[in-house]
Amino acid sequence: MNKIKEEIRDLSEKLLYHQSLYYIKSAPIISDIEYDALFDRLLYLEKEYPQYAKEDSPTKRIGVDLDNQFAEKEHKIPVLSLDKEYTIEGINKWVQKNIDFAERQIGFVLEEKLDGASIVLYYERGILKEALTRGDGKKGNLVTANVKTIKNVPLKLTEPVTLSVRGEIFIKKDDFTKYNKKFENKYSNPRNLASGSLRQLKSSLVAEVPLKMVAYEGYFEAETIEKNTELTEHIYNLIKLDKLGFEVSNKPVYISDNKETVKVLKSASNLIEVGRIEDIKTFIEKRVNSRDKLQYDIDGLVIKINDLDIRESLGYTSHHPRWAIAYKFESPMAETILLNIVIQIGRNGRVTPVAELEPVHIAGSIVSRATLHNLEYIELLELGIGDIIAISKRGEIIPAVEEVIEQNPKGFIKFNFPELCPFCSSIFIKEGAHHFCKNKNCPERIKRSIIYFASKDQMDIDSLGEKTINFLYENNYINNIADLYSIDYENLLNEEGFKEKKIQNIKSSIEKSKDKPFSIVLSALGFDGIGKNRASDLIKEGLNSIDKIIEIAEKGETELLINIGGVGDILADSIISQFTDKDILNQIEKLKAIGLNFEDLSKPMSKSSVFEGQIWVITGTFENFKPRSVAADEIKNRSGKVTTSVNSKTTHLLKGESAGSKLKKAEELNKIIIDEDEFMEMIKNDKEN
Ligand code: IVH
Repeated sequence: MNKIKEEIRDLSEKLLYHQSLYYIKSAPIISDIEYDALFDRLLYLEKEYPQYAKEDSPTKRIGVDLDNQFAEKEHKIPVLSLDKEYTIEGINKWVQKNIDFAERQIGFVLEEKLDGASIVLYYERGILKEALTRGDGKKGNLVTANVKTIKNVPLKLTEPVTLSVRGEIFIKKDDFTKYNKKFENKYSNPRNLASGSLRQLKSSLVAEVPLKMVAYEGYFEAETIEKNTELTEHIYNLIKLDKLGFEVSNKPVYISDNKETVKVLKSASNLIEVGRIEDIKTFIEKRVNSRDKLQYDIDGLVIKINDLDIRESLGYTSHHPRWAIAYKFESPMAETILLNIVIQIGRNGRVTPVAELEPVHIAGSIVSRATLHNLEYIELLELGIGDIIAISKRGEIIPAVEEVIEQNPKGFIKFNFPELCPFCSSIFIKEGAHHFCKNKNCPERIKRSIIYFASKDQMDIDSLGEKTINFLYENNYINNIADLYSIDYENLLNEEGFKEKKIQNIKSSIEKSKDKPFSIVLSALGFDGIGKNRASDLIKEGLNSIDKIIEIAEKGETELLINIGGVGDILADSIISQFTDKDILNQIEKLKAIGLNFEDLSKPMSKSSVFEGQIWVITGTFENFKPRSVAADEIKNRSGKVTTSVNSKTTHLLKGESAGSKLKKAEELNKIIIDEDEFMEMIKNDKEN
C-alpha cells in the first residue's frame, strides 16, 4: 500500500483509540502534547493528500463523547464547540471585527472557561427533564439520572420556565484530591474524573463523587417566562439563570462602552463585574494571574457577544458559533533542534533574527523557522545553536521560540550577532530593543517591500508569491515595484519553472491588481505609519488622492495630518518627509503612468432625513438584507434610529420571516409594522426623490 495512505490509516486508528480513552473512559495514557502531535500530523497529511482523507477521520469528529451504554438523543439546540485564540491581540481583533460588523455600540461578556465536561440540561415548565452530554453536537448521551445526583443542579426551578441550559460539570481541586486519595490516586485530573463519573452506570456511585455544575448559556422559551423579563442580552440571561436557582459562571465581566448600560448593570447585580472595551486586556490579565487561586481548574476564558440579535445575525459555522471565542491559556507547543540563526531585514529596515529548525509538526503545519524577535531575546533565553528548544504557535502568528529545554550536548555555541547588514554592509543602528538597517536602498529592504506590495493582504497579486519575487529580484528581472508592471514576462519562458500557463497567470493577476482602490495602493506602497486602517482614515478625512497628500507634504502642513486616525507629531513629520523624498515621488509617478489608482472617486453614501425622529426595531430574517445590519444602515442613513427592544419609544417595527416575541409586543403596543416589501418600497421612493 502507498506509504502516505498507510500512515494516514495508522494515525487514524491510534487517534481513535486515544480519543476513546480520553473522552469515553476518561483515562488517557498519553499527554495532551503527544496527542496533539499525532493529530497535527494527520491534519497535515490530510491537507496535503486530500485524496486519502476519509469521511470518518478522527480529525472530523473532534472530541466526540458518545458512549454506547447510554441512550442517544437529539439535541434541541446546536451544541457546538468554541473557536480559539492564544493571544490577547487576537481577542481584541476579534472584538473589533464584531464591533465593525454590528455597526452600533454592542456589549461583550467575559467568562471563565471551566475545564470539565460539557452538559446540556432541558427543563420543561421548571422541571429538569433531561440531561445530555455534548456528544457529536447533534445528539448526545442521556445521563439524566447521574446528573440528578449533582447537589447544585436544580431539579425544580423557582419559576415554571421552559428552557435549555448549557453548562460544565466539574470538581473542585481540593474535593478531587480528597476523593482521589480514597482510590489511591487512580484519576489523573479533576476533568477526567468529572466526565468519567457522568458515564458511570450506577447513579448511586455517581452521587458520591463531589461533582458540581456551572451554567453559562440559557435558551429560554419566551412564552413561559415572566413578562417584562429582558431576553435580548446574554448578561441578563445569566442573571436570570441565577434567579432560577443555577450556579452561574463566576463573576462574568460585562464589557461595553455604553456608559448607561454599564451603570445600570453595575448596580443591578453583584454577580457581575463591569468594564470598558479598552479594559479587555486588563481583565484578561487579571483573570490569568489569579487563575491559580481559584478552587477549580479553568483552561481559558470565553468572550461572547452580549447582544442576542447580533448573535443571531452572525450565526454558526459547523464547528462553533461566530459570536464567541475562547482565549486559551496553553498554546500548542513542540520540541525541536535549533539548527542555525539567520538575520532577516524587513522592508522598514528592522532586523529580526530567525531560528532555522529541524522541521517539526505543530498545529496542523510543518514548521522549520521561528522568530527570535531581537538580540535581547536571544540573550535572555541563553540560546545556543544545536540546543533542544520548545517552540509555540499562538493562533495564526508566526511560531516563536519559547525556551531552551536542553543545551547542545557538544557545548554552548554562541550566535554572533552581526554588526553590519549582510545585504548592504551598512552599520546596524539600535533603537529600543531592535536593530535597524537604515539604508533605504538596501537591496533586501527593496525586495521585502516588493513582496509586501504583492502580498495577499495588500495588492493580492496571487501568482507573485514570495518565491517568485525572490527569483525575479535575485536574477535582475525586477529592481522595484514599478518593474512588476513593465517587464516582459514572456522572457521568463526560458527559465526553469516558468511555463506558458504560469506566465499567463502572472500577467492576468498583474492586470487585475490595477483595479485595486486607492486605499489599498496607498497601504501596499508600505509607507512608514500608513497601514490599511490609516490609509482609509486619511482618505475619509479628505486626503483622497496622492496629489493632495503630496501637496500638503510639499507645503509642510503637518497640522492637517495630526489627529487623523491617531497621527501624532512624530508620525506627521515622518509622513511629510516620505512624501517629499525624490525616489519615492519618482516611483509614484511611474506607477501613476502604469494606471494604478491614485485617487478615491467613490462618493460618500447619500444621506437623507426621511426617517428623522423615528425609532426602529428590526426582527426576523430578510431576503434582501443579509446580514440584518444592512437594513439598519438603510434606516440610519436616513436619520432614523435603530434599537433592539420594543418599548414605548419605538415608532416602527421592521418585520422579517419568522418574527417572534418582538412582533407580538409591537402589535400589543400598536406600533407601525412594516414588512420587507413595504420597506423596499420606502427605500426605493426615497432614492428616486
Ligand atoms: S460557551 C455555543 N462558555 O468549553 C456555546 N463554553 O471548548 C459554546 N466551556 O464545549 C460554549 N466554560 O464545554 C462556553 N463559560 C463557558 C464555558 C464553556 C467551559 C466549555 C464547553 C465547550 C468547550 C469548548
